[in-house]
Amino acid sequence: MSLAYRAVSWNRQKRLYDIVLLVGLVLYLAVFIAAGLRWHPQATIETLIIRALGTAALLLLHLILAIGPLCRLQPRFLPLLYNRRHLGVTMFLLALGHAVLSLRHFHGAGNLNPLVSLLVSNTRYASLSGFPFEILGLLALLIFFILAATSHDFWLAQLTAPVWKSLHMLIYPAYGVIVMHVTLGALQAETNPLLAVVMAAGMTVVLSLHVAAGRRERKRDRETRRADAGGFVEVCGAGEIPEKRALIFTISGERVAVFRYDGRISAVSNVCPHQNGPLGEGRIVEGCLTCPWHGHRYFPDTGAAAPPFSGKVPTFVVRVRQGRVFIQTTPLAPGTRVAPALIN
Ligand code: HEM
Ligand code: HEM
Ligand code: FES
Repeated sequence: MSLAYRAVSWNRQKRLYDIVLLVGLVLYLAVFIAAGLRWHPQATIETLIIRALGTAALLLLHLILAIGPLCRLQPRFLPLLYNRRHLGVTMFLLALGHAVLSLRHFHGAGNLNPLVSLLVSNTRYASLSGFPFEILGLLALLIFFILAATSHDFWLAQLTAPVWKSLHMLIYPAYGVIVMHVTLGALQAETNPLLAVVMAAGMTVVLSLHVAAGRRERKRDRETRRADAGGFVEVCGAGEIPEKRALIFTISGERVAVFRYDGRISAVSNVCPHQNGPLGEGRIVEGCLTCPWHGHRYFPDTGAAAPPFSGKVPTFVVRVRQGRVFIQTTPLAPGTRVAPALIN
């Protein structure tokens, strides 16, 4: 086991995802603008850039909203979760670019300040076809700004995890506002059905994923397992847990992360003591289980943080019999050493 602990792990992968994101975005913007110039020669380059930035932000927003449930349904998508912050900030910057250029293009020519012009030039709130849809864009942008501005760990610590998480859930109303921004704005004038079809498909995918993941989580939380005379419950086969990863089970109302690594099994509470991150969605790196949120590391057998981190996680006694994994229902005090169960 290496002693070279780093505060945030998977830096190489993170950099790789950032590069893929950046290259993907540049390609998308270039293809969108080139296709626009080809098919709509009357459109100005500024209009095309506004549209390219707006649709790129919308696509990223769908991806951001899909990542949480996707990972709960299929752990293969977990690397996307680790990079979600960067997606969020990138999405905000694209939307900001779209908004600033729109303000300049559509409200920059008069005597009024563009922002004042945006707020007062159209007040047809009762009209469906003439609704001031840009104000909806501004509202969503303000919400994205709050998310991006409070996203730093400093604010996470100041606001506490539950408050911060509630704040983050504002993303869902913001998504609704953006759907209305596009439906009442661009879709009213658009004769090509592509944007409407993509919008409807995106909403269906996001909604279905959330419903499917929600159902699975509820089912898991409601699962009741009968404990044997020694207070152990059977949870799964040892081979079902991916190597250096965990499966999460609800045992006596508590979520427990059961890790498999190097022929051994250890179980700890799923709740990271740092900011309540889901430890079971992390993985074993250099012998330590590593939280997916901020990369704090814990020894799997003791639940104690590896230096330079601090904090302790409750541990659970584990047994493996005939390839099946059994967990004792009562957690041990945080930091209590439990010998890992050997698979063979
Ligand atoms: C405009 C910017 C952002 C948007 C739109 C956004 C979007 C989201 C969404 C939709 C979720 C929760 C959905 C779910 O649980 O499936 C979420 C959660 C999260 N975001 Fe962001 N985010 C933004 C910025 C950031 C930044 C900058 C950070 C990093 C510091 C961050 C860190 C996180 C974390 C750690 C979670 C997990 C919370 C949880 O799932 O309980 N986000 N974000
Ligand atoms: C102050 C804020 C905003 C203003 C003034 C604004 C303005 C506009 C305008 C004028 C259009 C119509 C453009 C056209 O048809 O040529 C538009 C379309 C659009 N906006 Fe915004 N917007 C704002 C915020 C946002 C945000 C935050 C998003 C985030 C995802 C967004 C996404 C879109 C999309 C996807 C379209 C359709 C693109 C298209 O026309 O093909 N907008 N917006
Ligand atoms: S929640 Fe921050 S490291 Fe786990």
